[in-house]
Amino acid sequence: MPHASAPGKIILFGEHAVVYGRPALAVPVTQVHADVIIADSPRAETWIHAPDISLHAELSSLPSNHPIAAVIHNFFFAFGVSPFPSLDISIASTIPVASGLGSGAAVTVALLRALSSAVHRPLSDEQINQFAYEIEKLHHGTPSGIDNTVITYARPVYFIRPLPSPLGGGAGGGVETFTVGSPFTLVIADTGISAPTKESVGDVRKLWESDKPRWERAFDEIGGVVQNAKERIENGDWRLLGALMDSNHALLQSLTVSSPELDRLVESAREAGALGAKLSGGGRGGNMIALVEKDDAAQVAEALLSAGAKRTIVTEIA
Ligand code: MEV
Repeated sequence: MPHASAPGKIILFGEHAVVYGRPALAVPVTQVHADVIIADSPRAETWIHAPDISLHAELSSLPSNHPIAAVIHNFFFAFGVSPFPSLDISIASTIPVASGLGSGAAVTVALLRALSSAVHRPLSDEQINQFAYEIEKLHHGTPSGIDNTVITYARPVYFIRPLPSPLGGGAGGGVETFTVGSPFTLVIADTGISAPTKESVGDVRKLWESDKPRWERAFDEIGGVVQNAKERIENGDWRLLGALMDSNHALLQSLTVSSPELDRLVESAREAGALGAKLSGGGRGGNMIALVEKDDAAQVAEALLSAGAKRTIVTEIA
């Protein structure tokens, strides 16, 4: 029975500006994950069971733009799988939806891996990543590709969006991993407010279109923060990341993608002793991250819960 799993992710630095060609840093979060199990179906049709979203349906009954159906149809067509096999596909995820932790991309990646082994069409990580990127485009228009990349490779990534090429595909960007000179601890806290990335990305685009020089400068500033952060992480100077998180958060506020709830959590984390804090991902809701001394993690997590966080995850970046 094919089984595949994919982790959640957080963006450490550089969200939104990454859509405009600036670099960003992201890491997998293995405490949350999407899991897909595929078995042969006793029925004549492929069935999908996703109890977390109360979905039990025949594939053919779902609209073709349904996020799960779209992955399966695209996969079958791309690999010439015909006639469609009869499969029982079970999907479970502990990644909160629309929260900046990459739930959609993780389900896509786990589903692609499980399908590829169910129908004996082995796929490389590169192919999975490219495929998952195409699915991300269906759902949120102009994704940078960072979410599917960090989730597919399940390792820290320094990511620059490939520029669209006239020949199709992308050119000029790149994905590198980065080394963590000395491990550091983050508290991730969920506002509990689901906020589709598509909306905040769309609003940033409107802002950019209204005054490109101004917002290009803001993206440049974010890009500078990311470069500094990468050097500090690699050199083991992680305590210096706190101030960089604070400036990245302020720049994201100026892009209008924070929210009163995110700002309250960021503020509470700092008051409780975090070295710095920022929203992570699309913003407007979803998650924020706080950099802490390991021994302060519990007190910062407690303060975040008191300030309204729905849940927290303490994770070590190593
Ligand atoms: C979403 O996790 C990150 C954004 O930068 C969008 C993207 O990169 O596609 C907001």
